[in-house]
Amino acid sequence: MNQVALVTGAGQGLGQRFCARLLAAGFDVVVSDRDLALAQATAKQLGGRTLAVKLDVGSKADFEQALAQVLEHFGALHVVVNNAAVTKTTPLMQISPEEFDAVVGLNLRSVFLACQVLGAHLAEAGYGRIINMASLAGQNGGTATGAHYAASKGAIVTLTKIFAKEFAARGVTVNAIAPGPIDSPAVHAAVPAERMQGLLANIPVQRLGDADFLGDLIVQLARPEAYFTTGATWDVNGGLFMR
Ligand SMILES: NC(=O)c1ccc[n+]([C@@H]2O[C@H](COP(=O)([O-])OP(=O)(O)OC[C@H]3O[C@@H](n4cnc5c(N)ncnc54)[C@H](O)[C@@H]3O)[C@@H](O)[C@H]2O)c1
Repeated sequence: MNQVALVTGAGQGLGQRFCARLLAAGFDVVVSDRDLALAQATAKQLGGRTLAVKLDVGSKADFEQALAQVLEHFGALHVVVNNAAVTKTTPLMQISPEEFDAVVGLNLRSVFLACQVLGAHLAEAGYGRIINMASLAGQNGGTATGAHYAASKGAIVTLTKIFAKEFAARGVTVNAIAPGPIDSPAVHAAVPAERMQGLLANIPVQRLGDADFLGDLIVQLARPEAYFTTGATWDVNGGLFMR
């Protein structure tokens, strides 16, 4: 049986690219998004052994239903990539309490629920790989992105450690990836062409990051051989943040 990987927020952007790299590496892939039509279109475009499911990462019931659908279709689940997030760039002093709660709430809740619901299933089965998309913003406070987004990503690093400890003895690893600006639709939407040169000049390697490299890192962390890395945050940031 192939390994089965579920990616959240995979209807577009980086999630879609991660699905393509997982498929290329031989995984069966569950393309999930809150927008089912988007997930279906992506799964169709990717082809291969894909299943599209509706999964709003703010809903515990959606995680439970998605798990049931995956088990019915593929018979197992091995890998969870917590990719979905809301990215906002509102200036610090203009963030309303409602917007703060909405961004922090969704970004944190998504990882919490995925680790709790899907993680419990993996731990019960005695094997699993969970990969959480954090961000450089969670480490350095962010540059183009808002405080609520940055704070939520910092807390995802903390949740990664908490769930890594919880599951370590049951064959389930939990790692985070903290990318800097990646060559992706979201970055091009947030940074207009006229400001791109300024952004690049501030990145030590003077380039945006590569989405397929991130996808291949996910594949590496998703392999059985990755059993010895857990609770870690993998930096992919062009030298913007060095430990
Ligand atoms: N693009 C970058 O440079 C970059 C850098 C650092 C971290 N990241 C992280 O990588 C991940 C993907 O980033 P991206 O650039 O593709 O973002 P994106 O905004 O293009 O895509 C986010 C995806 O999440 C989905 N989504 C949003 N709310 C959802 C919900 N409630 N339920 C289910 N799906 C939902 C959207 O439909 C979309 O498919 C995010 O976690 C982001 O924070 C991206």
